[in-house]
Amino acid sequence: MKNIVLIGFMGSGKTTIGKLLADKLGVSLIDTDKLIEKKFGKQIKDIFKDEGEDAFRLVESEVINEVSSVGNKVIACGGGVILNHKNVQALKKNGLLIYLKASAPILFERIREEGSRPLLNVPNPKDKVSELLKARESLYENVADIVIDTSDMNVDKVVKEIQEKLNE
Ligand code: S3P
Repeated sequence: MKNIVLIGFMGSGKTTIGKLLADKLGVSLIDTDKLIEKKFGKQIKDIFKDEGEDAFRLVESEVINEVSSVGNKVIACGGGVILNHKNVQALKKNGLLIYLKASAPILFERIREEGSRPLLNVPNPKDKVSELLKARESLYENVADIVIDTSDMNVDKVVKEIQEKLNE
């Protein structure tokens, strides 16, 4: 099986949906943010604070290269993974990219309470979500093999729709 690679904005449900999907498919879930945290020995927000975003992105690419080398798993990526085309190329080698799409207001509602995302640690996170999504939306769309709109869907429905698309 090719890797099933979940991409999308923060709050699009990559980790939650990834867990369910991996269970259904009987494969393991790799969460790239977790691997990056392991490499640094600290949480994402502290990596951004202490080392800076560039250092985070470098290690993110390292992790992407490592997890892309073999198939047979579900990979939940950080929202910014598509910013570097080399990451996309690596992921596509052994993987099918699924974009979990949702609108800015819905994404904001899902993540507003969390406080774990350094990029949204700004005076007006709602505007920041809109701004970042606007800049990234076409990238997500262009690199995706499959696009799933998750705006009105519950996670079970999303997983079912992914499985249907995979069987087509
Ligand atoms: C980021 C998304 C985060 C994490 C980091 C940067 C981004 O992952 O990788 O905070 O640039 O969108 P999630 O999408 O899992 O929140």
